[in-house]
Amino acid sequence: MAGNVVPVTQLTGALDHARERTLALVAGFDDAALERVWTPIMSPLAWDLGHIAAYEDLWINHRHGGLDLLRPDLAELYDAFETPRCARGDIRFLRGAELFAHLEEVRERTLAVLDRQGTGDGVTVEMVARHELQHQETMRQTLFLAGLPGGSPQGEAQRFSGPQAEDWIDMPAGTFSMGAPAEAFAFDNERPRHPVDVPAFRIARTPVTNASWLTFAEGGGYERREWWSNEGWAWKEEYDITHPQGWDGAPVDPELPALHVSWFEADAFARSQGARLPTEAEWERAATRDQETPSGIGQAWEWTATEFTGYPGFEAHPYREYSEVFFGAGYRVLRGGSWASHPHVATRTFRNWDLPQRRQIFSGVRLARDA
Ligand code: AVJ
Ligand code: FE
Repeated sequence: MAGNVVPVTQLTGALDHARERTLALVAGFDDAALERVWTPIMSPLAWDLGHIAAYEDLWINHRHGGLDLLRPDLAELYDAFETPRCARGDIRFLRGAELFAHLEEVRERTLAVLDRQGTGDGVTVEMVARHELQHQETMRQTLFLAGLPGGSPQGEAQRFSGPQAEDWIDMPAGTFSMGAPAEAFAFDNERPRHPVDVPAFRIARTPVTNASWLTFAEGGGYERREWWSNEGWAWKEEYDITHPQGWDGAPVDPELPALHVSWFEADAFARSQGARLPTEAEWERAATRDQETPSGIGQAWEWTATEFTGYPGFEAHPYREYSEVFFGAGYRVLRGGSWASHPHVATRTFRNWDLPQRRQIFSGVRLARDA
């Protein structure tokens, strides 16, 4: 995008669109629900909302527009690193009418800044719009854990029926270009695009369904030591895990992709099938081929075997804390996107990451095998 001036209207449209969705997501909740700590691994919803505004003010109005922060006193409490999730319930974040007025006030400054000086190369504004879309999914994770509406897929979810066990796509050995092309917006961790040699492999045409997971669980999936890694077994034993998160509530729909499984469970499930998780390179190679594209991408984040690190030649840009601080810290890469992801964010080069024990994320599995 460097050198191109992006029209202001295009990007303010992206900001408007993100905001409409944010407000729709929280419209049904009262202040008490927004302020409550539903679980120590997630922020109160009101924190996410204030953080969305603070991020926009910091990046567009302060860094891009040269203005002072609207509320410098709030900068620290809305900084994800200064104030970790487990501490966000105790702080005096914005609440109620003041919170919504602040979102609005920041947005008015943003529009004035962009009107006055344009969007530059557009990267900052794109990043801010996508950041808001990403936090919508974060908030949906909170809604899922709290058992509130908005935390589970509704009617639009893609269904998979019939036998899938032997439905594999053969991928020949070859070199492909991994990562985002230089022209369009991408997050720093998707660059630089670089050639990767991938040996021949097979990848499942569809994601693993609840029906298959039920068979796994009922067939001793959570008891057969040989299917579990040491770390995974220790985690499962400690927390007494016997099924994906969320299965003790509403009845499980057998035709939907399995969701809310940890990387440890995904790995054990794959071994039980005589399979394995795809590497991140295998996943991207299969997903970016013209023909025979796997289906169901965008229904569940798909765990890969790969640990989150930078591609060769990685450069942090422009938001240093976006990716780099998570490299080499045991996070696993997830690909594809879930029903809760905005398709604008979850592209086929987009890299998500989480810790291997996490299940609040809308995570599932697509199996792979050696050829
Ligand atoms: C890319 C989803 C892992 O939520 O930690 C939001 C996105 N970064 N605010 C996260 C993000 C900063 C990020 N993930
Ligand atoms: Fe954020």
